[in-house]
Amino acid sequence: MQSLALHPMLPRQSSEEQSRHAFLVDFKNMLSRDLSGRLQGVYETEALPEFRKRFNRDPETRQDVAKVMREQPFYQIWSALNRVQQELYVDSTADCVERQLPGLIDKYKDLKKNAKHGTLELSPELKIPRYISAVDIHCIPGGYFLELAEDDVYAGARYDIGSFIFGRGERGPLNDARGQTGVDFLKKNYPDLKPKRILDLGCASGMNTLPYVAAYPGAEVYGIDVSAPCLRYAHARAEALDIPCHFSQQSAEHTTFEDGSFDIVVSHILFHETSRKAVGTILRECHRLLKPGGVMLHLDVPRRLTATTPYDQFVADWDTMNNNEPFWGTFLFDIDIRKLALEAGFAESQLKETLANVPGGKMNYWALAATKAGA
Ligand SMILES: C[S@@+](CC[C@H](N)C(=O)[O-])C[C@H]1O[C@@H](n2cnc3c(N)ncnc32)[C@H](O)[C@@H]1O
Repeated sequence: MQSLALHPMLPRQSSEEQSRHAFLVDFKNMLSRDLSGRLQGVYETEALPEFRKRFNRDPETRQDVAKVMREQPFYQIWSALNRVQQELYVDSTADCVERQLPGLIDKYKDLKKNAKHGTLELSPELKIPRYISAVDIHCIPGGYFLELAEDDVYAGARYDIGSFIFGRGERGPLNDARGQTGVDFLKKNYPDLKPKRILDLGCASGMNTLPYVAAYPGAEVYGIDVSAPCLRYAHARAEALDIPCHFSQQSAEHTTFEDGSFDIVVSHILFHETSRKAVGTILRECHRLLKPGGVMLHLDVPRRLTATTPYDQFVADWDTMNNNEPFWGTFLFDIDIRKLALEAGFAESQLKETLANVPGGKMNYWALAATKAGA
């Protein structure tokens, strides 16, 4: 497991917390990598024959597979252990941030007061969409919105270290693998872009927004999110790293920016946390916000393109029912995003839906990119 760069806003992990977090990464690897062959074996030798006996056909959907897999004791134990792993990881990262919270809030206030590079604009009256506020997403109490104190940065700080551990410590010292992947994808596929303004939708703690600042010197970079505690942390983190970025509290469905304000609009793992309707609305907003010739790029979990059999889809769908990710399976398997992008105004000939490799790593992300016509 790599280590995170110790910038001033990062909550420090005690040696006990580091050991616990390393254990949780090993625990997760055991469940998703080491035991995946045994799980598939149970499907092939027990559940699939049972399905054929009961229905006189092969399973065609992940829901078909669920009918017989959920009865299997090995699956039940595997699923319960996954849930335990998730709860331990949330508890441990929450404890780590909570014990340092007053000091983190003081640092935020100080960095905000003396901001040299970027800005922060919060809108307490913003209506938070139900799809992101009605559940404790990923089983995190309060999700992205818990505020334990005035000027709270808890949710943003916990997301930073939590996302690093959830990513098994494979997201680089600045925890920015998704932003680096977006930059790498844009540079390779749109080498002539000379952006003046770039927008990141659903930026949370800003880890994946900041790589665009270094990649496109001179461009103004903006990050928006609906979570105030994440944005406070994002702003303070960017200032602590001396990276200019402008953060504001807005919904990606309807922003306050003028038509044609941006040369690049990106998002990283935003779509799977929204809703079927919101994905279409956000794509329309991207089209409105882009200048002619500008490019949108959305990265998300790769299973949309990689889980192709009903069994793989059933396993990939675990988070929907067990990890408070209500839209996860719908995003992965049930909506036609290409169609939504066309309805939003993008041309079929401009659409790319593919896998984007993390530079220098083994992971990849699902990527949807398109240029706005009319340059
Ligand atoms: C999984 S996090 C991804 C954060 C960040 N992009 C990253 O890669 O680390 C999803 C973020 O999207 C935000 N979000 C959800 N719906 C939104 C919306 N309609 N407008 C803006 N942000 C939204 C959430 O508050 C959360 O911070």
